[in-house]
Amino acid sequence: MVVCVCNAIRESDVRQAVRSGAQCPRSAYESLGRRPRCGQCLTFAREIIDEERAAA
Ligand code: FES
Repeated sequence: MVVCVCNAIRESDVRQAVRSGAQCPRSAYESLGRRPRCGQCLTFAREIIDEERAAA
């Protein structure tokens, strides 16, 4: 599933970024070499990050 349309970031990319230490959407996107643009994805990205961190 695509999380961020602007950057073509997938859910699996976000989860991988969290496992590599990202703690928020901005740091997750930065670790992927991208940055938030329109911002519409941030709430969903945060939910995935919280879920992934809770499972760690
Ligand atoms: S959808 Fe992620 S910044 Fe636009």
